[in-house]
Amino acid sequence: MDAIAHAAAHLRAGGLVAMPTETVYGLAALVRDAGAVERVFAAKGRPSTNPLIVHASSLEMARGCCATWTAEADALARAFWPGPVTLVLPKADWVPDVVTAGGRTVAVRVPRHPVALALIEAVGEPLVAPSANKSGYVSPTTVEHVRGVWSEAQVFVLDGGACEVGLESTVVAVGHDGLRVLRPGVIGPEEIERVAGRPVQEGGEGAGVAASPGLIGAHYQPQARVVLVERPEDGRAYLGESKAVFIGPPGGGVDAGAPHVAIAMAGDAAEYARNLYDALRQADAMEPSVIVVCVPEGVGPTWDAVRERLGRAAASR
Ligand code: TXA
Ligand code: MG
Repeated sequence: MDAIAHAAAHLRAGGLVAMPTETVYGLAALVRDAGAVERVFAAKGRPSTNPLIVHASSLEMARGCCATWTAEADALARAFWPGPVTLVLPKADWVPDVVTAGGRTVAVRVPRHPVALALIEAVGEPLVAPSANKSGYVSPTTVEHVRGVWSEAQVFVLDGGACEVGLESTVVAVGHDGLRVLRPGVIGPEEIERVAGRPVQEGGEGAGVAASPGLIGAHYQPQARVVLVERPEDGRAYLGESKAVFIGPPGGGVDAGAPHVAIAMAGDAAEYARNLYDALRQADAMEPSVIVVCVPEGVGPTWDAVRERLGRAAASR
């Protein structure tokens, strides 16, 4: 039996599968198996108030998870799927409450990774897939990251290589009263506005709109303290630390000799995003007293999403 058939059988039997997507690896279970979904929450240590994203292999399958499907949702889905955009719509009755944390809406997306699509096709029904990290930690973007967290007995791991995007999907609430980006991603508000033909609100914690619980407070956090600096040379202020790891532009700012370490990051937005979580994990594995990240200044949705994740990685816990 090939790996995908094996993973599909494991899911049908109530098991959990680490599934590569184009954004980050997900921890998958059958949407309709409430017991398996509960095991996903338990394995991650995820608060039961934080809903999961449903992954489908086609627009029709995604639509089947929603009670209503607007022309606007259809336009967004056709423009961005398969790809790193998640749409939040009223939930279909059959979707177990545990998936949506008791809420009336469901988040759905069609991922672009061929292994994810093949797995969902093989199972023939949608899968929940939160990022395959322990709750609050940095999302995994390589199979090595995944294997570092889960044992083979706990989770069947599908190897899909390094994730192409490296940051989680843009989450967009599609309401009668408008569109709101609940979580920024590489697809930005302007692109969404262009497809929808009306303005998009930003910010998950806005008044009057159901917030995205996973966006509140600290998130994406390494074990080590993370501090952000504006200019590479500002990192020098941390050379007095017992062991600092600097993440920043190549050759920039800090000439880190032992016990300090420097991890160079590319200047290109897509490449930076693809490597960010690996850099944070590498830094954390060195058990430093502090991880100092020079926040890139670039303009555009990918840089905005990078800065949002870094802000949460550095938030006080
Ligand atoms: O790129 C991604 O979206 C990855 C890959 C695996 O697909 N998945 C992912 O899932 O990032 P997770 O569980 O780590 O993040 C899901 C985000 C959380 O911020 C959660 O609060 C929000 O989506 N969310 C899920 N359902 C929601 C809903 N019904 N209403 C508002 N926000 C929702
Ligand atoms: Mg996550």
